[in-house]
Amino acid sequence: MSFSCSSYFIYFSKCDNYTKNFYICKMAFKNSKTGILTSGGDAPGMNAAIRSFVRSAEFNNIEVVGIQKGFQGLIEGSFEKLEMRSVSNILGVGGTFLHSARSIEFLDKKKRKLAYKNLQSQGINSLVVIGGNGSLTGASVFSDEFKIPVIGIPASIDNDIFGTDFSIGYDTALQTIVESVDKIRDTANSHNRLFFIEVMGRKSGNLALNASLASGACFVILPEKDFQLIDLIKRLEENKKRKKESSIVIVAEGNNYGPSYKIAEDLRKVYSAYESKVTILGHIQRGGKPSPFDRILASQLGMAAVEALKLKKYNSLVGLVNNILITSPISDVINSTNNLSNDLYRLNKIISR
Ligand code: F6P
Repeated sequence: MSFSCSSYFIYFSKCDNYTKNFYICKMAFKNSKTGILTSGGDAPGMNAAIRSFVRSAEFNNIEVVGIQKGFQGLIEGSFEKLEMRSVSNILGVGGTFLHSARSIEFLDKKKRKLAYKNLQSQGINSLVVIGGNGSLTGASVFSDEFKIPVIGIPASIDNDIFGTDFSIGYDTALQTIVESVDKIRDTANSHNRLFFIEVMGRKSGNLALNASLASGACFVILPEKDFQLIDLIKRLEENKKRKKESSIVIVAEGNNYGPSYKIAEDLRKVYSAYESKVTILGHIQRGGKPSPFDRILASQLGMAAVEALKLKKYNSLVGLVNNILITSPISDVINSTNNLSNDLYRLNKIISR
């Protein structure tokens, strides 16, 4: 629809309040230009978040510039304008089409200054960072130093980010782990073997605990809980008495005892009732098409990030808590963690036999 100035005012005066607010918001954001980047480990659903952000921003008259390779791209000045059609056909694609990096250079203040100059030269006046705790910490430091407004969108398969019940990518990774454990169980059953299956998650046991529950593992080793070899031996002995044919142990990579190979080796030295094998699932957990849950979550958070910008809720993380979209100060988010659920831990102890 195009209007002359006087006909615009006649049209505007006849609008209901909702439509008036809609146009006021659109006008207010006419000169806004936001940069968006994905940083740290890629997570399935990052593309869905970019797509939703770009489309919601366009709806609100905010221009979007995509930054390639996370903070590294800010330093190198790798920018591209993003519009409605530049984000077509990425909703169901894993990884991140903007690429990602764990930028060592961004730790250097001189490089951050260069990054800020690059943003200024593009006329970018706010920044959206999609990533995990490390990336949000980088965003917070950058924002404090150069007074640039930042909004964070939580994305990490680890589900360890405070301020949201779920981070983008976690649901898909959990599904991949459970499918893999189901497959390994076929061999474990056929050969009466014990399998140690190591999963990602850094210092968080959220992936491991939930994978244990969903795959019916008989034991889980978590970073948050003390582990002694004797506890595992007791569980395996109980299993043997119950004539259990196979055993699956989920090992969180960040546990305090050591890598799954060490646990298996130490067990072999003192207990030989089972032949044991080790599988490290590795980066298969980060890949693949995002689940419908992750696509929807990412779309919600993408739109929430635009709304946080509109409401000037700067330096905050958008999250979903109890199925409600909320914002939390990034400073709180990076100083906390999404703790393991005690209820799920108790449940797992009772039923994993
Ligand atoms: O934070 C996501 C994550 O996949 C962790 O679970 C894992 O420890 C780490 O990233 C691996 O990072 P990289 O791909 O850089 O080796």
